[in-house]
Amino acid sequence: MQKSIEAIFSGIQPSGKLHLGNYLGAIQNWVKLQNIAKQNIYCIVDCHAITVPQTQLQKNTLHLAAELIACGIEPQKSILFVQSDNSHHTELNWILSCTALIGWLARMTQFKEKASRERENASVGLYAYPTLMAADILLYKATHVPVGEDQKQHLELTRNIAQRFNNIYDSNIFTIPEPLILEVGARVMSLRDATAKMSKSAKSEMSMINLTDSSEQIAIKIRKSKTDADAIPSETQGLENRLEAKNLIGIYASLQNCSLQSALQKIGGYSFAKFKGELTEMLIDKIIPIGNEINKLKEDENHLRGILAHGAEQAKKISKTTLRTVREAVGFYAP
Ligand code: TYM
Repeated sequence: MQKSIEAIFSGIQPSGKLHLGNYLGAIQNWVKLQNIAKQNIYCIVDCHAITVPQTQLQKNTLHLAAELIACGIEPQKSILFVQSDNSHHTELNWILSCTALIGWLARMTQFKEKASRERENASVGLYAYPTLMAADILLYKATHVPVGEDQKQHLELTRNIAQRFNNIYDSNIFTIPEPLILEVGARVMSLRDATAKMSKSAKSEMSMINLTDSSEQIAIKIRKSKTDADAIPSETQGLENRLEAKNLIGIYASLQNCSLQSALQKIGGYSFAKFKGELTEMLIDKIIPIGNEINKLKEDENHLRGILAHGAEQAKKISKTTLRTVREAVGFYAP
């Protein structure tokens, strides 16, 4: 499968610090794909972020650029840019809003979760969020989109929008993208409540590990993470109905780059105290160097701005060609 990867696109919101879920579910994969795909584009999606009020958006945008580079996104291999710096995204978004159906958007579970009981007071942007996501992906004719499990439904919607547009305008302008979702790490759960995903918007800092956490913070978060009284099983069936255990072992497997089953072959029979000790060490080894690099990169704002400006230029060169053909297909006046 890997040989046929042509064009990667993915996005991430500058809405707070990156956490382990973002890293294991998405960014770790982006870093690997840079050496496999012919075209790699990663976008800091600030237009998506403002679907709910943001404070410190500029600062978070630059911070996220530093975080992504520190994780291993290389501007020589990947185009890294900010969504609002390329207005083709919002332009195509309008056109796709006229292709997407209200019924499709109404089924999006992420909107239902985010708006919850405040539905009437949610912004139109929050509701229309997935059409902008479709525009992001389709502008660059992405063949593959590496994301965590929570974005799967949005990817299906993107495919539906692309197909409907191609049918209506009797064209094959849009490539139908495939999601790339990892087997382990695609859904990292909260360390305090394994029924909820690890999320930037969670109230408790203890529920997540951030990429800028200190060794002490990582150690205490893992030590206090919820578990159960039984030892670690040797087979995956032994993890049924043990959500907390499954989550921690999933994190372990993802860090080891192995399946849940092969992780259990190594650690089956361990007590949680022993397992948590090993997991903490592995996390410290992985995260502390990234955190140090983030802090270093953050100090040189001009360098980060230069990378993002160059990325936006490269992105626009690609997206303007797609947008031109879309405008022609729709029948817009050509001035
Ligand atoms: P965002 O900013 O919420 O998350 C960025 C990436 O991290 C993944 N992720 C997780 N993976 C595993 N476990 C978790 N707990 C976890 N939390 C987050 C997400 O699945 C995502 O891959 N709508 C997108 C941003 C976006 C986008 C796009 C993505 C905008 N346009 C086009 C792909 C293509 C979002 O809010 O991601």
